[in-house]
Amino acid sequence: MCGIVGYTGNRQAYPIVIKGLKRLEYRGYDSAGVAIYDNRNIKIYKKEGKVADLEESIGTQNVQGTSCIGHTRWATHGEPSDRNAHPHLSASGKIAMIHNGIIENYAQLKRELLNKGYIFKSETDTEVLLNFIEEIKTNNNCSLEEALRIALKRVTGAYVILLIANDEPDTIIAARKGSPLVIGVGKNEHFLGSDASPMLEYTKEVVYVNDYELAIVKPDELVLKNLGNEKLTPYVQKLDMELSAIEKGGFDHFMLKEIFEQPQTIFDCMRGRLDVKAGTITMAGIQQYAEQIISANRIVIIACGTSWHAGLVAEYIIEELCRINVEVEYASEYRYRNPVINKDDIILAISQSGETADTLVAIENAKEKGAIILGVVNVVGSSIARASHAGAYTHAGPEIGVASTKAFTAQLVVLTMMALKIGYMKGTISNERYQKLLKELEVIPEKAAWIMNHTDGIKKIAEKYKQARDFLYLGRGYNFAVALEGALKLKEISYIHAEGYPAAEMKHGPIALVDENLPVTFVATKDAYHEKIVSNMQEIKARKGMVIAVITEGDDTCAELSDDIMIVPEADEIVAPMLTVIPLQLLSYYIGVAKGCDVDKPRNLAKSVTVE
Ligand code: F6R
Repeated sequence: MCGIVGYTGNRQAYPIVIKGLKRLEYRGYDSAGVAIYDNRNIKIYKKEGKVADLEESIGTQNVQGTSCIGHTRWATHGEPSDRNAHPHLSASGKIAMIHNGIIENYAQLKRELLNKGYIFKSETDTEVLLNFIEEIKTNNNCSLEEALRIALKRVTGAYVILLIANDEPDTIIAARKGSPLVIGVGKNEHFLGSDASPMLEYTKEVVYVNDYELAIVKPDELVLKNLGNEKLTPYVQKLDMELSAIEKGGFDHFMLKEIFEQPQTIFDCMRGRLDVKAGTITMAGIQQYAEQIISANRIVIIACGTSWHAGLVAEYIIEELCRINVEVEYASEYRYRNPVINKDDIILAISQSGETADTLVAIENAKEKGAIILGVVNVVGSSIARASHAGAYTHAGPEIGVASTKAFTAQLVVLTMMALKIGYMKGTISNERYQKLLKELEVIPEKAAWIMNHTDGIKKIAEKYKQARDFLYLGRGYNFAVALEGALKLKEISYIHAEGYPAAEMKHGPIALVDENLPVTFVATKDAYHEKIVSNMQEIKARKGMVIAVITEGDDTCAELSDDIMIVPEADEIVAPMLTVIPLQLLSYYIGVAKGCDVDKPRNLAKSVTVE
């Protein structure tokens, strides 16, 4: 949540920071602001709304300066408003700060400061921390860096903080715990960001700051320290990402671009891993822990949202192919329970961003109890990737649309490859089935591309149903989680209420909702459950519900029963979700666009949920 950007160097900082904020808007977009040193003072510009609203409010004012910090906010403490927007200025007006995260004990700190006569201009926890730091600096007559270090010892919660001050305006001081921070290293200049996207066109050399580290960043110097004031050696890594990956490339929205990228991202995910001829799957991280996985008592999958849906599909696949008991847990519940974790358990965390706070804490807790943690993560070098013992990246490239699409299919591919590898090693899958599934996987990119070439029908369906008030999504078996995912996408993108359900379970309640106004979307491909789902469709038709169905090419039975169909190529039921989800992503997208919604930045959402 919240995007942060910083620049210090010789160039004009404002355009760099604004451009960076636009790239980070997926993290939050209810207000934005910058603080810049203009040779005399720190000036703050901030505005409720998107970064474009901030730019518009600044208009033709000449914003000059070579060191600047900027923020795009997802509100936690205090409603979205100009006054709660970051940056905040300290009581003296000499220090400006931006913050991503939550200061959990802010109320106590605020009380202390109120007793000392402080007056707050906003309702944010950020302004409290900032004044707490300034108070320490004044009382101890110490440097800002020292004051920050002292303050952080009193702070509980998660944060990335950037500070600039009047007395050393070229220096940005940063600290991290629980939220991401990347520093780009240029020639006599440094860039800071919540991810690397704001710095991509300037440098490929980056340092990922770790928790409990402080960075003192000047144009020509980067000093990393721990909270004990010991210097650390920054580990400079080369970024493996091109600018084109974070641009729309001719598409109207990132979401559409990312949906259409799936033939390629699915292929990328298998590249160098799947070798059908040799009959092998190479996954070093999984190989390293293969023995433990094979002998595991159970696998506990921990994730949130769309990643949790990928976990549900994986549950069915792993149980089928590996005969290992699997449980799928919402990270936000799991972390606060007192779950039984045995040392023979494998914890499998799934996350696109690798920064989801609940997932991160859940695996850290499990790790403390001795479990082996495997991560299936998209963002390289992210916190969950680093907290895992091993795992596999999904290699889907940056996902910028707030609704997850290509990351989901990549997660399915990685999880299926893992299950196949383990099942084959364990001997719980026959050689024949294994070879067949390898071939099935290999042709998924082609089949996904086929769907991309047949989207006209989906657009028409979107037009027809865009005014619906509610939707029901039903699926069985491997496609049950796809129904959940379809419903989630529709809610997020079009604000239409949608529920996903196991098709057979609908008789236990949701069928009461069915009437001639309710579109019911079935995920009904040809699989072991086909006859059953056909019966479920008939039950809906008998109650005058409208049936939309994702069906296998050539399935006349389902076609006849449906009011509208979205076709996918035939595929084995284990890999089918990689295809069946695509028409549902497109349906949500086209309905969202038809309703005039901001599909890349749906209201109230943020891509990376770094608060609990
Ligand atoms: C839905 C969506 C969210 C995320 C969830 C977990 O479109 O994007 O539900 O899936 O916030 O995020 P990650 O996968 O980054 O842990």
